[in-house]
Amino acid sequence: WVLMVTAQTPTNIAVIKYWGKRDETLILPVNDSISVTLDPEHLCTTTTVSVSPAFDQDRMWLNGKEISLSGGRFQSCLREIRSRATDVHDKEKGIKITKKDWEKLNVHIASYNNFPTAAGLASSAAGFACLVFALSKLMNANEDHSQLSAIARRGSGSACRSLYGGFVKWIMGKDEKGTDSLAVQLADEKHWDELVIVIAVVSSQQKETSSTTGMRDTVETSLLLQHRAKEVVPKRILKMEEAIKNRDFASFAQLACTDSNQFHAVCLDTCPPIFYMNDTSHRQASFLNLIISLVEKWNRAAGTPQVAYTFDAGPNAVLIARNRETAALLVQKLLFCFPPKSDADLNSFVLGDKSI
Ligand code: DP6
Repeated sequence: WVLMVTAQTPTNIAVIKYWGKRDETLILPVNDSISVTLDPEHLCTTTTVSVSPAFDQDRMWLNGKEISLSGGRFQSCLREIRSRATDVHDKEKGIKITKKDWEKLNVHIASYNNFPTAAGLASSAAGFACLVFALSKLMNANEDHSQLSAIARRGSGSACRSLYGGFVKWIMGKDEKGTDSLAVQLADEKHWDELVIVIAVVSSQQKETSSTTGMRDTVETSLLLQHRAKEVVPKRILKMEEAIKNRDFASFAQLACTDSNQFHAVCLDTCPPIFYMNDTSHRQASFLNLIISLVEKWNRAAGTPQVAYTFDAGPNAVLIARNRETAALLVQKLLFCFPPKSDADLNSFVLGDKSI
């Protein structure tokens, strides 16, 4: 017999960034972060987990290719969920698995991303969140979303925020063991549903410096990070929570853009410096810089912000428009200013809203 569960999890985009760990094994951050989770049909991971007495080892396939499960991060997630597994009884199939059985049974995991893996679009976020959620269903681990988020965090920090929809805060926590470092939902997906996220996928290539090594170097060498984590982010988090609560786009945009800029400043303050926004072809780099000036000029001319930008650890631009009309205009402007020359040069605009 085989028992299986399929889950789908969207990625999330940080508007107050997580960058830097105080504990690398437990993945505990140096500051709180806030993100918005995309709608489930866009940029998501679909994961099927299955269990059978015929499986002789745990195995995993990502986008159809087998990958090693020996890494500590996969092992922590598997171990944590296994230790919470309870009895499963599938009456239809006549399958009974006891808590004890789970210790011996192996799982097969098949995961698909509908967007470029490791191109700075937080694929690990959707991936680990989905893995942990699917495993928890398969093994009947009755934990709430926040507890599951703390397990997903052990896979990849940003993954903890993808257990919830809407606006999510990852509370850094104080406990050395990380029991209080978990995600909470600030507002659900309906709270501010006129926002539209437009992602310009400038390059689908693997980024050169992974977030994990990048943030390790930053923690070791950047003084600016210490200032950011202790002085800047705590105040910014409070202001961002307020902006989200009041659907105050002007404050939201100002905070998101400033925080993205400071994150990249911290990367430049790292030794050796990390150039996420320029870590790409010349044309692509100028495209990203032009997007910033386009947004800045537009917002200034309008007298109040219309669009926010935020850039993660890869050569893609995330733009958040205040409503559908603005998003439609934004896409028009982008296509007019930067007409795609070839598929390889400028891949596509991925829309966070199908109706545009
Ligand atoms: C720039 O969560 O990918 O996207 O915890 O080492 O797996 P690890 O890093 P990861 O880092 C994400 C960094 C970021 C900002 C953010 O999502 O908050």
